[in-house]
Parts: sequence; C-alpha cells; structure tokens
Amino acid sequence: MSIEIPEGLTELLQSFTVEVLRNQPRDLLEFALQYFTQLKESETKEASFGNDQNSAPRPGKAVNFIDEAMQIDSENGEEEDDDDEEFIGRLTAPVINRFIRRASVCAEAFNPDEDEEDKEPWVTHPKTDEQRQRLQEACRDILLFKNLDAEEMSQVLDAMFEKFCTEGEHIIDQDDDGDNFYVIESGTFNIFVKVDGTEKLVGCYDNRGSFGELALMYNTPRAATIIATSPGALWCLDRLTFRRIIVKNNAKKRKLYEAFIETLPLLTSLELSERMKVVDVISTKVYSDSQQIIAQGDLADCFYIVESGQVRITIKRSRTKKEQEEEDVDIATCSRGQYFGELALVTNKPRAASAYAVGSVKCLVMDVKAFERLLGPCMDIMKRNIANYEEQLVTLFGSSTEIEQQSA
Ligand code: CMP
Ligand code: CMP
Repeated sequence: MSIEIPEGLTELLQSFTVEVLRNQPRDLLEFALQYFTQLKESETKEASFGNDQNSAPRPGKAVNFIDEAMQIDSENGEEEDDDDEEFIGRLTAPVINRFIRRASVCAEAFNPDEDEEDKEPWVTHPKTDEQRQRLQEACRDILLFKNLDAEEMSQVLDAMFEKFCTEGEHIIDQDDDGDNFYVIESGTFNIFVKVDGTEKLVGCYDNRGSFGELALMYNTPRAATIIATSPGALWCLDRLTFRRIIVKNNAKKRKLYEAFIETLPLLTSLELSERMKVVDVISTKVYSDSQQIIAQGDLADCFYIVESGQVRITIKRSRTKKEQEEEDVDIATCSRGQYFGELALVTNKPRAASAYAVGSVKCLVMDVKAFERLLGPCMDIMKRNIANYEEQLVTLFGSSTEIEQQSA
C-alpha cells in the first residue's frame, strides 16, 4: 500500500523543526500551538491582501514570533519599545529580518548572527607596555568583559584608546548618539538624568567602573549626562568594536540564561524586555569550595544570584560577651535561583555578613549601577526578605544585632 504524502507537509514540518531548534522552547506543545496558530493567521491575513503570487501563503513559511510579542506589549498598554525590537530581532533575525522595522538611531545596527568581520578591519590602537598594563588593570573588574574569551578580550584591549579629561568636561550628553563605551582608570564623574526637563544628579563614579554601554547595546540615545568632577583618565572602546564583541556576546548570553532568568521569583515584577536587560548586564563568576565571595564589613559593589552550587552566609559573633575574639556563625544557605548581596546595596552600608562557596559555585553577578537601574521594581520582594533577616538572627541568637540598624 502506498501512502501519499500531502503536498507541503515536508516543508511545513521542516520549517517548524528549524524554529524549534532555533528557539529551544521549554514547552514544545505550547510552542507548536503558537507556531501553527500564527502560521494560520498570517496565511489568512496575506490571503486578504490579494493574489500576488510572491506573497501568496505557502506551507512552511517562517512565522514571526516578534509580532506576537509586540502585540502583547501593546495590548498591555506599552509603547513598542526599541529595545524589545532590537532584542527580538537579534534572536530571530536569521528567519525574519523583514520584521525588523526599526530605523536605528545610529547607522550600523548590528545583527550578531551576521559575520561582520570580513566587512570592516578591526580597530587597533597601538599601546606601550605600560599603557597596556594600566588598561588591563582598569578593565579587570568590568563585568561586561568578564564573559569574553581570551581572543575577544585581546581584541577589546587592542581597540581601546586613552582619553584624558579635565574637571567639568562633558564626557557624554544625554540624548546624543552613542560613540564610545568608557572604562574609568581614574577620576570622579557625576551622572545626571533629565527628570521632567530638569537635570537631576542620580549618582557618581569614583575612580572605578564604566559607563556608556546603554546607547551602544540598544541603539538608543544616551540615557544620562556624565560630567568629570576632577581631572581623569578614561579608556574608550569604539561603538563598532563594542557591538561586534559585547553585543554579540550578549546575544549568546540571552540564549544561555533566558530560561533560568524566567524561573527567578525575584524578577517576576519585571517585563520580559527588562529581564533581558538584566541578562545583558550580568556576568558569571565561578568560586571553588570554601572561597570567600563576600567579606562582612567590606564596601559593596555587586549583587549575586546563585546559578549552581550552594552559598553559606555567615555572620561574625563574639565567642563570649567578654571576649573580643569573633567567630563566623552560619545564618543562611542560598542555592540555585536565590540571591544575596542586596542588603548593602539597598542600605548603602558595608556588607552585613560574609558569603562562602560550598563546593563549586557559579553565580550571576550584577554591578551596583545596573542593580539600581534595573531592579527598582523588585525592591518590594527584597525589602520583605530583608525584614526577615532580623527575625532569622533573633531566632538563631536570641537577641537583635547590628542588622537591626542595617535594615532600618
Ligand atoms: P548611555 O546611555 O550609553 O550613556 C549614559 C550612561 O550613563 C549610560 O549609558 C549608563 O552607562 C550610565 N548611567 C549611570 N547611571 C544611569 C542611570 N541612572 N540612568 C541611565 N544611565 C545611567
Ligand atoms: P549584604 O549585606 O550586601 O552582604 C551579605 C549578604 O548576606 C546580605 O547582603 C544578604 O543578602 C545575605 N544575608 C542572608 N541572611 C542575612 C542575615 N540574616 N543578615 C544579613 N545578611 C544576610
């Protein structure tokens, strides 16, 4: 008996399989439902546009999941966000570039799946050994660089160039197009953001850190004004190299962490596009058994989410009332999906406890500026947890401790 294969079946199933492999959905059935529903809808829509042979629907034609995401956002009363388009465009660009409707603020919108390396030569600024050493030192703690492999890091270092600035100099003006990403070697800088037309001082950088990544990552105008408040030295990374390396890396990171980020209870109050921005700014750090991640009393500049392994939180207590000698006492354990290191960032105080790896531990790490910028909507959940810390300590030690002042 011969079975006839209906026309278009092979094409239809192949296209679906390609989409599944590209998107790696967690729920295959749900994905299939969406895929075929959209396919049917687009077929109906296109049919109603007339009989143009080229646009006639055919089985297996790529379905645009972007439009759906945008539709949901606008149904929620949100503006269609450039970032969403950029993000979704990046994830799906190989299949459906026709849906990338945005005209980017700057010319060279980057598609990380497209290999641009052949088109433009790599930027290189020669440096002396002394300069390279200073540059490496300045870049050591830059989280955006942490996930780069050795070759990418060396391309970044080759491309960076030095800029000295004077007190009062505007390094970035809000609403301008983005040219460079900046790493601070020395100097202090104020951050101003326009609120209702008036510039408001929202923070500062003190001899460390980096800025200017947002306009380059999302093809948006500069989101803040940065003014030097002392003479300083900056290392600059041009826009094209930043997008070739950092943005490309972020696309990989999104694929890697999208599913994990979706499971985090802490981030439930964030929109999808905001959760993806969180992925863009995180880096991963690996710790070996017993390694200290946070030291009680230190100044804080990072926030942590446990990706794998366990983290012991300990607090120093005097052995006896008379003795000055202190010991570390276990107060909590954080495992996959839990976070720590938020208290000092929220209270602007030194670290209230220490954190140690139990076995091999992998954490997602976010710097304080990104924490402040992105996790505002999650503050309620954090504050509720912080309120529990005191209770936890009273239960453990029977009396309140300095945490009382910390969380006040
Ligand atoms: P970008 O928008 O490219 O240029 C201004 C930079 O200021 C921005 O990237 C961030 O790196 C930095 N910045 C620091 N704090 C803020 C903030 N609260 N809002 C926006 N940008 C900020
Ligand atoms: P932070 O003070 O920044 O660094 C130490 C972290 O330990 C702290 O933030 C909290 O995230 C975490 N922690 C967990 N339980 C407690 C507790 N009872 N008291 C203080 N910190 C705690």
